[in-house]
Amino acid sequence: MSVQAPMAHDSARLHVTGAARYVDDIPTPQGCLHLAFALSPVARGVIRGLDLAAMRAAPGVVAVLVAADLPFANDVSPSVHDEPLLATDRVHYMGQPVALVVADTHLAARKAARLLQIEIEAEPPILSIEDALAAESYFEDGPRVWAKGNTTAALDQAQRRLQGEITMGGQEHFYLEGQAALALPQEGGDMVIHSSTQHPTEIQHKVADALGLPMHGVRVECRRMGGGFGGKESQGNALAVACAVAARQIGRACKMRYDRDDDMIITGKRHDFRIAYDVGFDDQGQIEAVRFTQITRGGWAQDLTAPVADRAMLHADNAYLLPHAEITSLRLKTNMQSATAFRGFGGPQGVLGIERVMDHIAHDLGLDPALVRRRNYYAAPKSAARAGLANTTPYGMEVRDFLLHEMTDQLLSDCDYAARRAEIAAWNETSPILKRGIAFSPVKFGISFTLTHLNQAGALVHVYQDGSIMMNHGGTEMGQGLFQKLAQVAASRFGVGVDQVKITATDTAKVPNTSATAASSGSDLNGMAVLAACDAIRTRMAEFLGQGAEVRFADGRVMWGDQNISFAEAVAACYQARVGLSATGFYKTPDLSWDRAAGQGRPFFYFAHGAAVSEVVIDRLTGENRILRADILHDVGASLNPALDRGQVEGGYVQGAGWLMTEELVWDDRGHLRTHAPSTYKIPACSDRPAIFNVALVDGENPEATIYRSKAVGEPPFMLGISAFLAVSDAISACGGGYPNLDAPATPERILRAIQGLQP
Ligand code: MTE
Ligand code: MOS
Repeated sequence: MSVQAPMAHDSARLHVTGAARYVDDIPTPQGCLHLAFALSPVARGVIRGLDLAAMRAAPGVVAVLVAADLPFANDVSPSVHDEPLLATDRVHYMGQPVALVVADTHLAARKAARLLQIEIEAEPPILSIEDALAAESYFEDGPRVWAKGNTTAALDQAQRRLQGEITMGGQEHFYLEGQAALALPQEGGDMVIHSSTQHPTEIQHKVADALGLPMHGVRVECRRMGGGFGGKESQGNALAVACAVAARQIGRACKMRYDRDDDMIITGKRHDFRIAYDVGFDDQGQIEAVRFTQITRGGWAQDLTAPVADRAMLHADNAYLLPHAEITSLRLKTNMQSATAFRGFGGPQGVLGIERVMDHIAHDLGLDPALVRRRNYYAAPKSAARAGLANTTPYGMEVRDFLLHEMTDQLLSDCDYAARRAEIAAWNETSPILKRGIAFSPVKFGISFTLTHLNQAGALVHVYQDGSIMMNHGGTEMGQGLFQKLAQVAASRFGVGVDQVKITATDTAKVPNTSATAASSGSDLNGMAVLAACDAIRTRMAEFLGQGAEVRFADGRVMWGDQNISFAEAVAACYQARVGLSATGFYKTPDLSWDRAAGQGRPFFYFAHGAAVSEVVIDRLTGENRILRADILHDVGASLNPALDRGQVEGGYVQGAGWLMTEELVWDDRGHLRTHAPSTYKIPACSDRPAIFNVALVDGENPEATIYRSKAVGEPPFMLGISAFLAVSDAISACGGGYPNLDAPATPERILRAIQGLQP
């Protein structure tokens, strides 16, 4: 059977040879035009005048459009319609698209866009958390609070109490393929869009609204993205709508791709957070109560800030049973890029909050931080929860399948945690300049969209007369290997080789009403839909061939009674007999309920778990640092493809460590993003991965009935990078003094400051 086989990504060869086709590689019709946005040079203000003459006169320019030229909706928001494609009377951030240049070439469009003459009556921008709090600049009319038990009373009664705060930066997605779209006008005003998007249905919807068409007038296709990481859930809307509007107006194909600087200046990033905590605990380090205040800057438009901030709240417990908890969330509206989805979708920020608390408690008590974490874990299945407490999250969901006790035992022993911790402490005694640190961190991540209706998927499968199979589904491919996994599912259902299954581009005309490929649920949802479609065809074939006898599909053969024929022969026989060889499949996740206002329910189908130990070294004179070793044990249930899953775990860890170690976004006091290119924004390079990098997958099965009992893997391992950050904090502790109170990212500058803070 091909599910569970560690096969290579279907496009691996195409990726490394450069033959994989991305939007910008699609051959365009003659006369295709190229687009660029002219951007606001000011972060906040009222537009008083716009002079387009210089842009219009620039070489190669065919047209320049502003808001008033848009025929229908001027809206690219994925949520509350607060995001115009082109600015109307005001600008809200430095980099906001104000005008759309249409030109003969990409370069001509970009050059002309620089000639924008705009008069803006500037207002002081709201940038910092302090600015926004003072101005009461909130989304969703103020704070959201979810609570369990009586936190105030439990804090007052606790044996010990600590307060603290951690600030964590945002993160640029830095997908290798930038945002891109191509619009091809069709007869009768219809439009075909090629878009690098995680959400083709939303592109279809937004383009339809912008063109005044019903959704059936727009078809969106995406073969693959060169990375999305959440940055292509909503941020591709602007390019696709711009191309569609220009293509409609001019009647020619239109293409747009952001160059890297524009991509970084225009599009949203991970939400930065400041999380304050007040925790009560006992002498063993067991938490009685914790109060979190999570403050995040959402940028100028709402985009996905509400569900991202919700997920941060939903992960404020991470792996720990909190008898009393109160989580307050403030979503600030600021004059910056609109922060958006990014791998983990707020989860990593919530998890880092409680991991910081665990670390702080351990430091306070002089205990091993891994021990303190274990003492606070949720109960394992079938074992008694702590002191008669229900094994429930702060949002009232029972934790039924908690694997981290065994996983922690196994990981800590496999990587010699205790011995290495002692060895590192001894080494640090003798090393005046270099200091090493080691840290363990777990993750428990909830799988499902918290907006319950998004947990649905569709698929379309054709079996052709020659026995070859075409597979299509609502998910999108961004490098994570979804298409390969689902081809393995389809091949397994028919008992044929994966090479019999044609992987096809995501297409809104084949499978409609899809959800974004997000929340790590791509294979869970679409896998089940593919399975349903395959099984519908298989059932019809079996009924005709077996005439009541049991029919098996395996090894490229179809077998019943004393019959044994090839799959192709079986298909040919079914075709001759007029058996339908095409089917759709549909799936919706069972057993979900979520009351967002109350913050109570079962928002997740299940949890995925992971555990990591990182070891780092820092230079106390320069703040330079490196990850020496990482050991990871990760839970993917029964893996659909262990090779791809390992890739996700490795990539997730490195990207998570990048977020917390090297990637720093800097805005100046005018709201200008100063880090908008790889020269100033440092993502991890190959050489930054740990020299020793051991990744193992738990050999298990999802107790919930997911596709072949696998578990989602896309986002959870991102949070394992937190162990690297905590290891840096541990190394700083070895320089002496109190708790380091390190903020993220732990750049050399911040490490030095933390060390100096320790030395009077
Ligand atoms: N892996 C690669 N190579 N490229 C990506 O863009 N995106 C991540 C993760 N892994 C991403 C990736 C994010 S944010 C999500 S939600 C999941 O993949 C989406 O895919 P899945 O649901 O099929 O796991
Ligand atoms: Mo992933 S942030 O859910 O696209």
